[in-house]
Amino acid sequence: MDKILVHGGHRLSGSVKISGSKNSALPILAATLLTKEPCTISRVPDLSDIHYMLTILSELGCEVERASGVVQIKAEKIKTEAPYEIVRKMRASVCILGPLLGREHEATVSLPGGCVIGDRPIDLHLRGFEALGAAVRVSGGNVKILAPNLRGAKVSMRSKFGSTVLGTGNVMMAAVLAEGTTVIDGAAEEPEVVDLANFLIAMGAKIEGAGTRKISIEGVKELHGAKHEVIPDRIEAGTFLVAGAISGDEVTVSRVNPAHLSAVTEPLAEAGFDIRLAGNQITIRPGAKRSALKLDTVPYPGFPTDMQAQMCALLAITGGISVITENVFPQRFMHIAELKRMGANIDLQGSTAVIKGVPQLSGAPVMASDLRASAALVLAGLQADGTTEVNRVYHIDRGYESIDEKLNELGAHIERVKA
Ligand code: EPU
Repeated sequence: MDKILVHGGHRLSGSVKISGSKNSALPILAATLLTKEPCTISRVPDLSDIHYMLTILSELGCEVERASGVVQIKAEKIKTEAPYEIVRKMRASVCILGPLLGREHEATVSLPGGCVIGDRPIDLHLRGFEALGAAVRVSGGNVKILAPNLRGAKVSMRSKFGSTVLGTGNVMMAAVLAEGTTVIDGAAEEPEVVDLANFLIAMGAKIEGAGTRKISIEGVKELHGAKHEVIPDRIEAGTFLVAGAISGDEVTVSRVNPAHLSAVTEPLAEAGFDIRLAGNQITIRPGAKRSALKLDTVPYPGFPTDMQAQMCALLAITGGISVITENVFPQRFMHIAELKRMGANIDLQGSTAVIKGVPQLSGAPVMASDLRASAALVLAGLQADGTTEVNRVYHIDRGYESIDEKLNELGAHIERVKA
């Protein structure tokens, strides 16, 4: 298994180009199942999760071509059953359910298991399909859904931890071809949901309200092929801004949408960093003072759970006492024990991390447990004394396009050791 060696203590400066959003691209690629006509999706990041999604689409019968960030898909004749062997590798594969139901009125997909960030149910997705008239049956680890007559209905996508992002997308993708009007209440407001809605609209769907809590979808008879460019990855951008905060003289993230990142840039400014927005760029520089923060993860437009681990790495070396509460995935704290191995002083109290900043971390062998936790460990290694050895880096390759190379271009000293 590959590992990453981060040789700490090198200052970062310069500009980094941000890739297309993983969490936008995954459901958008799945949405191409909704039409027989060819679709072209550009700015698709080169990540293992994207590779899994394209493999699933090929297995379902799609013609898939990929060249430097542009993916062409033609789903002329498709199967409705996705094999466990591929689906099990990525939880986001559940988002093929909505398009298969919309187009073929049936779908059989393996149920996703839990993952290290906690129990990840899909009850709201399934309830949403049932509200649209589908019959859901779970057996042998698979969920089989039949929906001979999909019809519009009122659906709620709110869980006690906030609205579900992929659930909102899944129901939206089934409802675009249902008869009548569907109203999604408590819809997720994330930019990735808006991006998916924009692609569906380009395919001929009638959707209003994406980006708000209430989305209305008027079903149409069929959708056609379309071209779409995926939005910039706000979490990749946020991760590089935190890298700049941890170890940068001046770091610019380019090709971003600053409006999507205010929940990250505002706390960074509050912590004392100099943040400058200019067009589609954000620059971070050290400020005169550094302060501790109190942060709560919440759904968009609040502080994202996908930035919690990276922010823990920054606050671990920020003087004073910071407090981060994880409200979306209350168990998403696998990085804490690893950061402590590097000398961080963090006390986990339920779903709240109380972080007493220390002046310096020290490099150590650490274990990546999930995507964002791995990123946090690499960021911590930038500041640590000596070398940090991050094991199981396949997690980081699921969601960051060449993070080691991009950080090295900014001045980091990172080696990837092939197994
Ligand atoms: N939930 C339910 N029932 C459901 C669905 C979700 O109770 O049917 C709960 C979850 O357990 C969680 C909360 O609702 O407590 C929010 O989960 P959500 O469904 O929104 O998560 P998701 O759609 O499966 C996406 C991203 C995650 C990101 C979350 C929250 C993709 C592929 N994944 O997951 O991204 O953390 O939204 O913003 O879009 C990552 O990129 O590292 C990542 C984990």
